[in-house]
Amino acid sequence: LYIGVDLGTSAVKLLMMDENGNIQKIVSKEYPLYFPYPGWSEQNPQDWFAQSMEGIKELTSECDKSQVAGISFGGQMHGLVVLDKEDQVIRPAILWNDGRTTKETDYLNQVIGKDKLSEYTANIAFAGFTAPKILWMKENEPENYKKIAKIMLPKDYLAYWLSGSFCTDVSDASGMLLMDVKNRCWSKEMLEICGVTEEQLPKLYESYEVVGTLKPEVAKELGFSENVKVIAGAGDNAAAAVGTGTVGDGRCNISLGTSGTIFISSEKFGVDKHNALHSFAHADGHYHLMGCMLSAASCNKWWNEEILGTKDYAAEQTDIKNLGENRVFYLPYLMGERSPHNDPDARAMFIGMSMDTTRADMTQAVLEGVAFGLRDSLEVARSLGIQIDRTKICGGGAKSPLWRKIIANVMNLKVDVIESEEGPALGGAMLAAVGCGEYPDVETIAEKLVKVVDTIEPEPELVAKYEERYQQFRKLYPAVKGLF
Ligand code: XUL
Repeated sequence: LYIGVDLGTSAVKLLMMDENGNIQKIVSKEYPLYFPYPGWSEQNPQDWFAQSMEGIKELTSECDKSQVAGISFGGQMHGLVVLDKEDQVIRPAILWNDGRTTKETDYLNQVIGKDKLSEYTANIAFAGFTAPKILWMKENEPENYKKIAKIMLPKDYLAYWLSGSFCTDVSDASGMLLMDVKNRCWSKEMLEICGVTEEQLPKLYESYEVVGTLKPEVAKELGFSENVKVIAGAGDNAAAAVGTGTVGDGRCNISLGTSGTIFISSEKFGVDKHNALHSFAHADGHYHLMGCMLSAASCNKWWNEEILGTKDYAAEQTDIKNLGENRVFYLPYLMGERSPHNDPDARAMFIGMSMDTTRADMTQAVLEGVAFGLRDSLEVARSLGIQIDRTKICGGGAKSPLWRKIIANVMNLKVDVIESEEGPALGGAMLAAVGCGEYPDVETIAEKLVKVVDTIEPEPELVAKYEERYQQFRKLYPAVKGLF
């Protein structure tokens, strides 16, 4: 049995899979997310570990625990986790969707320079990346900064407490802006710029490599053997790509989670010359390009739960009948925007209501606004000459047939739906299976286990309507940018 842990932003999801890829059980445990100031986003690493341990216990409560062979992860990326020399958390983790580092990001992009950053890391600075957060701590919390003995990413905190191994993997580390992505090693130049040493950073592994075994006291608490292997795992997007079979060359996956991402796998290293898409290492040993919007399914959650006061998202969608004809636009920038605008100060907006606008029109606008935001990143990929005509889809938002249809038609892509939309948790379990030697490599396991159960074909008439709407949507952000 293999356990995949998806350390998300709203909850940790744990999945147990047998060696043939059958999902035995899924458990989810929530923890709080703190927004201490507008645009800030933090969580307590201790909550992640406590809830993951509870989750693993519940996940394995009815199984033969001696059969558990390996654990691995998909983790929310970019979060800055800092420990002191006693291994105590110094301050809450600063998350991927935190926008406090405008000054540090500008310093990196403008003073160090985008060309240099790109040369060192294959990427430029975005507010959510880890390096600007380290600089923010240096400037704003010098006492805390001085205490830093270990810097790690969210899922690595779990691996550390489970196994004692201070480790990370190349896909997740790509998002720190401290790694030379092409050569899959730390960038000496970036370490110097951020004032950190290699001793403060975890050891780099490929996502499918074993980093250690469970600590005896953890194994005892869980009722597992001490031989259970801990495998490095991946950033949640790379793990989701494994879970949806988006490995090898030229495949695409869309994730509709708290964030929205479009992930394009590539056998060769490549950089987006527009600096809108991230160029990261993939969990399959190769590379990928990725566009990330900071609020995707979270826009729908906010709209339904905070504004309409309901958790029944499906019921809100039943009155949506006029696909392609909605006059309301929604700009999905609740937490600022990463790809392609790189603007932590951008904010969400509804535009175009009239007296006959209905609640369903507004709900529809939210779903469409997220699809248009993803299309922005797809357009960047297309401008690089990358040809994509189909994609997989995963994440909580992918459960909605209507949203999947909107995505297919706004993006003019065939959308392949697979058996499970549990991308990162399933990908984590698959990486564990590879690490334990059950399968020779990531491509083989993906080929054997991932099955497409349905395909949504774009409809030419609807594609044409959405094309027109998208061309209007594109004009909105530049027009309102100055307001934020
Ligand atoms: C990717 C990103 C998000 C988080 C969400 O660059 O920031 O997708 O990984 O967990």
